Formats: sequence, structure tokens, C-alpha cells
Amino acid sequence: MAVQYTIRDNVAVITLDNPPVNGLGHSTRAGIVEGIERARDDAGVAAIVMIGAGKAFSGGADITEFNTPKATQEPTLATVIKAVEGSGKPVVAAIHAIAMGGGLELALGAHYRVAAPGAQIALPEVKLGLLPGAGGTQRLPRAVGLETALEMIVSGTPVKSEKLAHTALFDKMAEGDLLDAAVRFAARVASHNGPHPKVRDREIDHADADGFIRSAREHIARTAKHFPAPHKCIDAIERGVKEGFERGLAFERECFLALVQTPESRALRHAFFAERAAGKIADVPSNTPTRNIQRVGVIGAGTMGGGIAMNFLNAGLPVVLLETKQDALDRGLANIRRHYEAQANKGKLSHEQVDARMRLITPTLAYGDLAQADLIVEAVFEELDVKAQVFRQLDDIAKPGAILATNTSTLDVDAIAAFTKRQGDVIGMHFFSPAHVMKLLEVVRGAKTEKDVLATVMQLAKKIRKTAVVAGVCDGFIGNRMIEQYVRQALFMLEEGALPAQIDRAIEQFGFAMGPFRMSDLAGNDIGWAIRKRRYRDEPQMRYSGIADRLCEAGRFGQKTGAGWYDYRDGSRDATPSRAVDDMIVAYSKERGIERRSIGDDEIVERLVYALVNEGAKILDEGIASKASDIDMVYLTGYGFPLWRGGPMFHADAVGLPNVERAVRHYAGQANGDAWQPAARLTRLAASNGRFNA
Ligand code: NAI
Repeated sequence: MAVQYTIRDNVAVITLDNPPVNGLGHSTRAGIVEGIERARDDAGVAAIVMIGAGKAFSGGADITEFNTPKATQEPTLATVIKAVEGSGKPVVAAIHAIAMGGGLELALGAHYRVAAPGAQIALPEVKLGLLPGAGGTQRLPRAVGLETALEMIVSGTPVKSEKLAHTALFDKMAEGDLLDAAVRFAARVASHNGPHPKVRDREIDHADADGFIRSAREHIARTAKHFPAPHKCIDAIERGVKEGFERGLAFERECFLALVQTPESRALRHAFFAERAAGKIADVPSNTPTRNIQRVGVIGAGTMGGGIAMNFLNAGLPVVLLETKQDALDRGLANIRRHYEAQANKGKLSHEQVDARMRLITPTLAYGDLAQADLIVEAVFEELDVKAQVFRQLDDIAKPGAILATNTSTLDVDAIAAFTKRQGDVIGMHFFSPAHVMKLLEVVRGAKTEKDVLATVMQLAKKIRKTAVVAGVCDGFIGNRMIEQYVRQALFMLEEGALPAQIDRAIEQFGFAMGPFRMSDLAGNDIGWAIRKRRYRDEPQMRYSGIADRLCEAGRFGQKTGAGWYDYRDGSRDATPSRAVDDMIVAYSKERGIERRSIGDDEIVERLVYALVNEGAKILDEGIASKASDIDMVYLTGYGFPLWRGGPMFHADAVGLPNVERAVRHYAGQANGDAWQPAARLTRLAASNGRFNA
């Protein structure tokens, strides 16, 4: 039963009981209405308490009902709220832990609210590109005031219940047992003569509502350019302020229905479900046993090792950090401390927390100190010989059952596993730089990786707050393999007629956080150079423009050398287009007999994005990614792909795969067309007008 009905003294208790967070699915909604009617018909009942069982009052809509007929089947949430609000006997919502979205809207329909401290109160619909569609934009301002409500609705951010204790949202804060307090409160208000107060009848007091709303609009115009929902939230609130509750409510409904259809909301909902789906692996069920990870080892205290270690320290896991030389170890430790102290100076950590985290590190030069680690992550130089040395030693000293992970970005994880006699315990954990900041973790499943090893790493990823996506073994896994095709196109377009600043601007306008050339200057152009040198040797059929090599031969490695695709004057990080580089590009085209032409921004965006899409389709064909939404997650969390477009594969679905395929075939017939072999899946799905994200 999704709802229980019991009687305490002369108070009816309606308990929402739909784990995990009492989502307001159809049976829960129907159960509440039944409870209200039953209480109405029972002469022995004087008041009603609504409370949540388990971990929440209510987390809002039941996400398993999204896009199903049940979501809109009567009683809808609006009907439930009407029944609650219209009850002749007072209804008291007893709120603990979570009252979000529809859950909060339901509570706002009650006559009174009693809350436990520490409850998270929010209307997070905006994060899915929507607005609260069951009166939230109308009732919340009447309960907590215009400013607080607008901030909550437009940001979707939770606020702790005690912070709202002084507002009309809560009639009482309950320190002890919540149900006891709510029942006592209900019995007391039942003795008052009705009618009982309704939030909808309250006035919105504000000295200058127009001025406030205007400044909120200006702020949103700057910060939420690509998202229609925050604007609609403000519109709906304003309507209620100016024209009253009923008109506001009708307008809110209109806005909700319009927003559900927007591409931005579709993309945000896709991302929401894609994140959940990424954790589900077809042949590794959620009840797969996991190994216990209490102690972690990290090998290499360089750029990545230090960041990786911090992830575990932040989650309270002790880390043994190993280096080959004392000075490298000292440097690595100093970097970690410097980072934490900077956090403390910004007020994000206390000095005690800094010390506590530093105390969790055991620095060492001796492999023997890793013998007790349950998981060891390697982040040493990207050379197979060095990895071989490390994994052979790990095989000797690691305890049985320890998970051995490599952070390699390009090497063969199966080959690395083969340096050990325990290949089932080896896995890739590909962090992104800076490793303590970036959300993405590619979890690379080797041919022999045991299922419990995979399940353990996926679970651990949650603990260290990463978005983990499973990838199979291939050069570059999902993310870097795709980006290579994107970068190849960017370079081809340079020799065909574009310049770095134009390409960066076009793709940044499409919504990427940073274009390929600014990105490469930041990461270091020498990294790509090293990869290309390997390609020239191992995959000579994969042609590259020689322009990037020429840049590197000139020593222009990017920001770190003060010069790359752009100039960085006097240590500045601001990219200034470089005359010298532009001349070099034009000269290169001439040398090669390429007649430069003007390339439009549309072509730039298509070639860059469809290069990702086509390679993504190949990755699906080969089973390197098991679903298109995993690829989207990689690009949204690791590569700055615009969130409102939902990721490359979702974007391609939105454009229409027949259109994408036609463009790919077109480019295949142009200069540098050999880079465009259409993926079998793209051709097949285009022919059937299908989608990558079915
Ligand atoms: P780095 O050069 O900054 O750090 C490597 C560290 O490993 C150095 O401190 C070195 O002293 C230490 N080291 C070398 N051999 C060792 C050994 N046998 N035992 C113990 N320590 C040893 O390199 P970075 O950038 O941190 O890369 C490390 C790994 O992470 C590489 O496999 C790289 O491909 C991968 N990676 C790098 C990313 C990046 O953006 N830098 C992103 C994702 C993965």
C-alpha cells in the first residue's frame, strides 16, 4: 500500500509510504484522496495529519511514472491538493527530511505545517526545464514571501527547514517525535472554529514587487540565456502577484504545458535519466556483491595522482600515496595541502578539516605500504613499460582481492591487466583533469574484469561524487576517442580556410564551454602531438593535417609556454589571436596547393559535432559504450557539451538522423572526405528514421 490510514486519538494519520522517497505516483495520490474522504466521513475524527514514512515526507513526482499515462491519470496532484485544501477538518502536513517539488506543493495545500529541523525544502522543477505545476509558483510566495520564493523556484536549490521557520510556511518546528508533535498540534487546532487557513488566501506583501521582479529578470537574462524555464517561473510568479491566485494558477498550468514541450526541457530530462541509467549495467545486476573499500592506495603524485587522492580524502577514506622519489612526493603533498588551504581561505573548509584530511594521507616510497589497500589507483607516466613495472610490483604486494585500477588515458587496459596474475581484479578508472573537480569518471571494463570489481568501482564512484560511465577497452575509450575526430575536423578546416578564433567562436556560440583551440592551448599542445606521432606510426591510414605539428615544432605548446594557437601576453590566460599563427596557417595551405575558401559557422558546427556523433555511433556499434545516453553523459560531464542540447547523440536525434546522415555523406564527398566513413548504426537508423536514444 502506498498510503496507510490510521487513527491516533481523534486524529486521522495519512502516511505516505512509497519508497524510496514517497513519490506521488498514482496509487499514492489516490490513497491520499481516499484518506481525506474517510476522515471526512468518520464522525470520530476531528483532524488529519499527513506524514511520510521512511526517508522523506515526499520527494515529489514519481519518476518511474514519467512519460506514462499514469502521470496524468486522476486524481492528479492538483486534484489531491484541492481535496486537502477543501477538507472541512484541518489537515496538518508533518514534514521531515525531504519536501520537494510536488511534495512541497502538497504540503502547501494543507492548512498547517509542522516541520522537523534539517528537512530539505525545494521546488527543483526548474532543473528539469519545468516549473512547479501544482500551484507552487502561487502558494510558495504567499507562504515564504516573494523574494525567498522566487529565489527557491528559479534556482531549484533546497533550503533547510529551520531557515524558513520564521515564515508562514511552518506553523511549528518540532524538536522531538514529529508524529507526536503533529498529532498534538492537530488536536489543538481542531478545537478552534473553522474555517482553517489556506495559503492561497494569504496576501503577498512586498514594498516594491515590480522593481524586485525586474531585477530578477535582468539577472536571469544574464545567467540563464539558454533556458526558458527560469523566465517562465518569474512570469508565473508575477502573474499571481498582479492578478491574484486563480489567474496565476491558470497561467502556471499554461506555462507548464508549454515548457514540457521545449527542447531544453527534453534535454534536461534526458540528462537526468541518462545519469541514472549510467549506473545500470545490463549484465551486472544491482544486487551484485561488492568488495569493501576502506583503504586506498594512489601511485604517482603528479597532476592526476594528487587530484585522485583528494577525491578519496574528501570522502573520508585514508590514502597511501606512493612516489619513486622523495622530492616528487613532497611536491605532490604540498600541492594537495595548498589546494585545501585555498579552500579554507575561501571559507569552504575549516582549518581542522584541512588538518584532518592531510592526516588521512600516508606518504611513502615503499610498495610494501600498499599491502593493506583495498583499491590501488595508478597514475604514473603514460608509458607501457612504466605501467608494466608498477603492475608487476602490485601483483607481488597487493592483498588478495584488492582492486587494481589504472588511470591511463590511451593505453590498453587489457595489456596492463596482463602484467598481473589477477586480471579479473584490474580495471580502468579514467579521471579527468582536474581530477578533484571534474564530475566524469570513465570506468573501463577490461575483457577479464570481474563483475564484482565493476560493481564496487561504480558504487565507490557515487561515494566520491563522480558520474561514472562504463566504457570498453579501445584507444581513447568513449570521450577521447570521439574528441580526436572533432579535433581532426578542426585542423582540416584550418587548412581549408578557417582560422582558430573563428572555429572557437562558432562552436562556443553553439554552446561548448571552450572551442578546440583554446582547449588545446589550456591542456598543452604537446599532448596531442605525442598522440599524433603514435598514430603516424601505428595507424598511418588515419590522416591528420600537419598544421598542429608545425605549431609544436615552433615551441608553441599553449598557455604554459605563453604561446599556442593564440598569444598569451605576460602570463595572461586571455587568448589573443596570433598574427604569426594565422600567417603560418595561410602559408601551410599555400604550400599544399589548397585554395582557401570562406567556411561558414554552420559548416564549422556541423563538422565538429557530427564528427563526434559519427564516432559515437561507431562506439555503439563496437559495444565500447552500451547505450547512447552513456555517451551523452560523458560529453555533458567531461567535455563541456551544452547541457540544453542534451549531449551529442541526443542532439543528433533532435536534428533527425536522416539529416545528420545526409550531412555526413556530403562531407565524405568533399576535401578531407576520407575522415567521414558513415557508421553502420547511423546509416541504419537514418534509413528507418530511428533514434540513438530510443
Ligand atoms: P604527471 O607526470 O603529472 O605525474 C606522474 C607522476 O608519476 C610523477 O609525479 C612521477 O614522479 C610519478 N611516477 C612515475 N613513475 C612512477 C613509478 N614507477 N612509481 C610511482 N610513481 C611514479 O602525469 P599525469 O598527468 O598525472 O598523468 C598520470 C596518468 O594519468 C597517465 O597515465 C595519464 O595518461 C593519465 N591521465 C592524465 C590526464 C591529464 O589531463 N593529465 C587525464 C587523464 C588521465
